[in-house]
Amino acid sequence: MSDIPVITVDGPSGTGKGTICSYLADWLHWHFLDSGALYRVLALAAEKHHIANDDEVALGRLAGDLNVEFKVAEAGSLVEVVLDGQVVTDQIRTETCGNAASLIAPIASVRQALLARQRAFHQAPGLIADGRDMGTVVFPEATLKIYLTASAEERAKRRYKQLKEKGISANLRDLSAAIAERDERDSTRAISPLKPAEDAIVIDTSLLDIDAVLANISELVRHKVPGLPK
Ligand code: C5P
Repeated sequence: MSDIPVITVDGPSGTGKGTICSYLADWLHWHFLDSGALYRVLALAAEKHHIANDDEVALGRLAGDLNVEFKVAEAGSLVEVVLDGQVVTDQIRTETCGNAASLIAPIASVRQALLARQRAFHQAPGLIADGRDMGTVVFPEATLKIYLTASAEERAKRRYKQLKEKGISANLRDLSAAIAERDERDSTRAISPLKPAEDAIVIDTSLLDIDAVLANISELVRHKVPGLPK
């Protein structure tokens, strides 16, 4: 593997991964891979092309041909997701789209087609990779692997708050059930299930606020990556 550093941040939804990855990308001025966004865009494209979520051949082909662009701010954080020339940044953030993504994510042809696309983000000066299998499959030789967890209850509450802030209506109980179902599917699938890499540092964020998590992770990063900006 090249000596360009990679920091992987894996874990289920609602653990603070997105916030932490954006912070790290901004701080380090590194590239940012939001791999979940890729699966979400694919789910949206499949819907657009009326492809059933069990049509492995068509989904694999679509994943290979996906015309998606990730526009990033100079500092590295994700600004816009563009599918076939159309901005879909907000459209892919719904719970329905997250759920649709997790239904096609177990398919081998899909994961295989998205692998090279994800590895292409590995460029100087470094990469922050956010997902489920970043440390286990996509970047097994990463410089630092972090795995975030939090209780299902806390994650549902955070997600609820996030949706409310965006003006999207949600029901906590339904949200909790949907999150539990998606986690179960993500962690029990045969290929690239959600799990910490053996050499990952696991951080339970249930009782920590975001500043505490950031302080903890920044310390780990400083320890692993020499010569960083303050
Ligand atoms: O992280 P996010 O909620 O955007 O991911 C949506 C879905 O995409 C996940 O529930 C999971 O099924 C799938 N995914 C995956 N592998 C990744 C990232 C996301 O299977 N590396």
